Amino acid sequence: MRSFFDLNSNSEFHLPISFVGCGSATPQTIISNAELGERVDTSDEWIKSRTGIRQRRVIGANESLIDLATHAARNALKMAKWDEKTIDLIILATSTPEDLFGSAPKIQSNLGASNAAAFDLTAACSGFLFALVTASQYLISGSMKRIIVIGADQLSKWVDWDDRSTCVLFGDGAGALAIEASHENKGLIGYSLKSDGNRGGCLNLAHSNIFEDLVNEASHQRGDYLPIRMEGKEVYKFAVKEVPIILGELLEKYNIHSGSIDWLLLHQANQRILDAVAARFSIPSEKVLSNLENYGNTSAATIPLMLDEAVRDKRIKSGDLIACSGFGAGLSWGAALFYWHGSY
Ligand code: ACO
Repeated sequence: MRSFFDLNSNSEFHLPISFVGCGSATPQTIISNAELGERVDTSDEWIKSRTGIRQRRVIGANESLIDLATHAARNALKMAKWDEKTIDLIILATSTPEDLFGSAPKIQSNLGASNAAAFDLTAACSGFLFALVTASQYLISGSMKRIIVIGADQLSKWVDWDDRSTCVLFGDGAGALAIEASHENKGLIGYSLKSDGNRGGCLNLAHSNIFEDLVNEASHQRGDYLPIRMEGKEVYKFAVKEVPIILGELLEKYNIHSGSIDWLLLHQANQRILDAVAARFSIPSEKVLSNLENYGNTSAATIPLMLDEAVRDKRIKSGDLIACSGFGAGLSWGAALFYWHGSY
């Protein structure tokens, strides 16, 4: 008899997990490319042609990342028709928590999910995918039944708004997915995760490494971070090389032809990366989900934010096969193949 952990090449095989709800939330403040051009030496034309981004949203004075994440999770709960008391776990994928000890418990409290454990997980722009795979292990093991996975980031806090090579790329947002243990629906087919710390220097939100005198000869390191620093070209080359490899290996493993994919759902970093990956699999542009022109790169939020938009405008339908990949700092990257089963 086949066990859940016996993952051979078989497109009929799937893990006992169903994706049943999604939600998202974005800040009110919109910053257009032209507005950024008033601050740094850039232009709408340069940003649009190099990235596909037209505008991004940033969390302003009356908003917070926890509020956005709570809102996104509530919408996912509503779509899944779950009572909040039935949630077993909440995982918040973020690199920008409001509290370094963890922001997920605050979301748990906001939701009234009194029976849920909650913790943060950090894997930069791959964070949502890493959190999804982490959550799936609890469902596969049978130890939990209902999990909310949230991707939420506020990179606007850590961007140097005077560095044109990075500030034009990022924005803030949140998205969430409700996933449950289910043998009825074909849900998660398979996944793969990778990390390469040797190449981690390409993209950092590093500690400032400033020491202050403490007492006598002792000093201590101040809790402080430097702005985001990125070697854009290296990250670009990494993404267009590794994403097709990891996705291709997954498709091969489960004997799925790229022509059967209903939607290509990639981390929304740059339209040129989306186009390059789609071209490698001959996936037509109408099957490539993209909303980065409106939000920029919202890090851990891009994948659930995009999914939610496409579910709510009825592009993604119940039963659709989604090929998903995230990539980013670490370096880290991953892919997952799943069927969507939410109804909206
Ligand atoms: N406006 C105008 N000119 C600019 C800007 C700007 N905003 N930024 C850079 N330039 C200039 C550069 O100074 C350079 O000028 P030079 O030729 O006189 O030296 C020129 O434009 C070309 O710069 P490049 O860096 O070579 O531009 P490139 O075509 O590589 O595009 C970009 C840059 C958009 C950043 C691209 O490399 C990219 O998308 N990389 C991937 C980024 C990414 O996916 N990050 C994921 C992060 S995920 C996470 O974990 C957070």
